[in-house]
Amino acid sequence: MDNRILAVDGGTPVRTTPWPRRRLFAVEEKQAAIDVFDRAIEAGEAFGYNGPEEQAYCAEFSAFIGGGYADAVNSGTTAVHVALRALEIEPFTEIVVPPITDPGGVMPVPLMGCIPVPADTAPGSYNTDADRVAARLTPRTRAILVAHIAGIPCDMDPILELARARGLPVVEDCAQAHGAVYRGRPVGTLGDIAAFSTMYGKHHATGGQGGIVFTRDEQRYRKIRWMSDRGKPFGLPPGSDNVVAALNLNSDELACAIGRVQLRKLPGFLARRQRFATSLSQACRKFETVRVVEAPPDCENACWFLFFRIDIARLRCDKAAFVAAIRAEGIPCEASYLHTPAIAGWCRGHRVFGTSGFPWTDPQYGGDALAVYDLPNALATDATHFRMSIHENCGETEVADIAAAFAKVEHVYRLKGAS
Ligand SMILES: Cc1ncc(COP(=O)(O)O)c(C=O)c1O
Repeated sequence: MDNRILAVDGGTPVRTTPWPRRRLFAVEEKQAAIDVFDRAIEAGEAFGYNGPEEQAYCAEFSAFIGGGYADAVNSGTTAVHVALRALEIEPFTEIVVPPITDPGGVMPVPLMGCIPVPADTAPGSYNTDADRVAARLTPRTRAILVAHIAGIPCDMDPILELARARGLPVVEDCAQAHGAVYRGRPVGTLGDIAAFSTMYGKHHATGGQGGIVFTRDEQRYRKIRWMSDRGKPFGLPPGSDNVVAALNLNSDELACAIGRVQLRKLPGFLARRQRFATSLSQACRKFETVRVVEAPPDCENACWFLFFRIDIARLRCDKAAFVAAIRAEGIPCEASYLHTPAIAGWCRGHRVFGTSGFPWTDPQYGGDALAVYDLPNALATDATHFRMSIHENCGETEVADIAAAFAKVEHVYRLKGAS
């Protein structure tokens, strides 16, 4: 192979074999689903929801995360929605939201009549921090929602301190961070309520879609149950009326049976992801222009995907060209992860309830409906990073191929003589 000609320029790619398949579901998950059907057929009764599989899954998830109360729901988006609604926040108030996150991690805010106010990221990070959150607090703020992006925990202690001082609840969006640890404590146990996505792309899954709402507080758990199931009077005396209007966002027995198998595999999944990330980090230390972003030393990264920092000043190409060259070498990666409510059309255009602009435009909202939330740090982070989806079956062959592709592309594009 002539290592001097990039694949993007017609050379031979470093890797021509396909990327390994994730193979998330195997015979164990299939058997768990068959068992649910077999029991239903034998009993002559359909399986439903809130049954033995769901109760066991929720208990096992709570045990996994260190004790508390879990409610399985039907997506990560609805988990965020239920978590926020369980706080019983009045409409026309503000909720500080993550700078960079999946749209499903923010859309529940206006859907409950509140105003999403994105905080910026910490410098060089995809996560926010206490200073950036503090800059967005107003007399109208009623909650702080943070997301541990890519599996790297936010710096939570200062955020929690700020929240306590201001009497604000904190919701952790752990969709991308199952099993991540912050200073010895699992993410999801740090704030007041946590939301997890268990759709098929996440660390562990309940099938194609799913989510979990978690809290350590029994009273909050009651409200979580109300908000995920039409206000049914969970925890109240029999015969009580429905407590509140809420959607039916339940999970079900089939999903939770699959989730139970996945949960048993989760520690192994995490270990394999972390082993791959550590090995790749080490392999990348020799490069001058590209580095794997690691979690701070007092945290454990759940490694949902990996970020790479790229030193554009030492390259004679821009980030897009660098990433295109890596991709052409047979290594899947993406130039950007700029999913931010601050520039998303649905949020900037207030496209939630028809053309009304509600809740931003309602006279009951006393804040600035036209506020523009600049996120200079988030833009700077995105400009200097690219990302790679990884999974449990990425191993040493992939480390070697990624390192070979980086070496080849860096060699061709590096500015010679740059310090
Ligand atoms: C941080 C974050 N929040 C929320 C969601 C929404 O989860 P779901 O796709 O399960 O609705 C996602 C999905 O990727 C996410 O990454």
